[in-house]
Amino acid sequence: MEINPVKGTHDLYLEDAMLYSDTYRAFSITASMYGYHEIETPIIEHTNLFARSAGEDSDIVTKEMYTFLDKGGRSLTLRPEMTAGVLRSIVSNKLYVEKEMPIRYFYYGPCFRYERPQVGRYREFHQFGVETLGVNSPYNDAEVILMAYEMLKSVKLNNVKIKINSLGGEEARKNYREALKEYFKESIANMCLDCQRRYEMNPLRILDCKVPEDRPIIDKAPTITDFLSEEDKKHLDKVREILEDNGVDTVIDTSLVRGLDYYTGVVFEFESMYEEAPDYGALGGGGHYAKLLSELGGPDFEGVGFSFGMERLISLYKIVNKDNLLIDSTYDFYILSLDEEQVDANFTLAAALRRQGFRVGLNYELKSMKALLKYASRIEAKYVIIMGEDEIANNVMRIKNMGSGEQLDYAINEDLPMKLQELMEEYYESHYSDKKENSEEEIESKEIN
Ligand code: HAM
Repeated sequence: MEINPVKGTHDLYLEDAMLYSDTYRAFSITASMYGYHEIETPIIEHTNLFARSAGEDSDIVTKEMYTFLDKGGRSLTLRPEMTAGVLRSIVSNKLYVEKEMPIRYFYYGPCFRYERPQVGRYREFHQFGVETLGVNSPYNDAEVILMAYEMLKSVKLNNVKIKINSLGGEEARKNYREALKEYFKESIANMCLDCQRRYEMNPLRILDCKVPEDRPIIDKAPTITDFLSEEDKKHLDKVREILEDNGVDTVIDTSLVRGLDYYTGVVFEFESMYEEAPDYGALGGGGHYAKLLSELGGPDFEGVGFSFGMERLISLYKIVNKDNLLIDSTYDFYILSLDEEQVDANFTLAAALRRQGFRVGLNYELKSMKALLKYASRIEAKYVIIMGEDEIANNVMRIKNMGSGEQLDYAINEDLPMKLQELMEEYYESHYSDKKENSEEEIESKEIN
């Protein structure tokens, strides 16, 4: 019986798996340039970690968590996001001691949310993100946004809108909550049951409601902007000014409140501006949090961070860069063996070529030359190496270019590694100039049409 993957999950293999690891590598390099170190925390945490950080009445905690009792009766949850676990780890391991300041970590891994699967929305998805704590300055907030932008640039996805807002300090949010209560007082009885619950617990979360009938009234609600202190406004302006001076534009979005309770001050989200791609929602988002570390039992350090949704980025990357996916997982050389003796010699040859940095495959099961060549062509090997009796007797290696069909004998001597390298260069030159020509032709024909 065939067992299907769990709804909302997806397997990663071949090109996709490489895109994920390449993106992770590019982002890690950028993060390390800003002084960040990698941290890896468990996928399962105690449920109350998320209730306490994301907020008891957030959609994530009330509807979307994969929570279960383990055999010891403990309530555990598959992490729906990574900030809470990273901060818990900073507290558990006392990573906040003086010499470690500022605390700067980047992370990558799977998260789980029980949401309705749709474009760019999965039940298991991957986040890459950063958290920095212990420095409270608009420069630090701006630097985190600049770094996220540089990461997008490093994978050629920087045609984005950066939406920014401030959720202000405690006083601003208290006054805003009261204003929302007053505003929704008349209409709350006609709104969805979730909103009625949110009204009692935390009216700010009403703004996350996605029920279409509730949206018109929510869209006219007061925004936080009118409740921000002069200091909050100055901080937000300064962050925007620093970014602008460094070539990064931001757009104020007064309705941006984010779906997690821990934010205070500056919040932001990245939105794709590529017309050819579907609307994924936010590619990533984050913000400043003043109290999260102390609420989890650590010192009173403020922090700021963000996370990218990797599925959304990779899907966008494949649409935007479809003509230039320089992903190559095919064999450089496939060595054919027609008898056991050749298998034995070619086994050693394959290991030597791999040591020189070539991707090499070979057959262990004996088949006819015709069948082996057919197979090598099917798996798109770039070159085939034939080391039959004649070749061994003449001390040469016969190499067939699987694209052109041309085959030549190469003397086995100290020049051979260089010759093989040249063959690879030839392959890449012809392969990618073909691709480029094709895409140029495509552009031309689009222009004509
Ligand atoms: P978030 O906005 O909940 O923030 O998630 C960050 C990103 O994860 C989203 O912008 C989106 O790209 C991706 N994402 C969220 N849910 C899904 C899903 N179901 N399927 C696919 N992608 C998804 C956080 O998680 C915060 N921890 C970010 C942060 C870090 N704030 C401060 N530090």
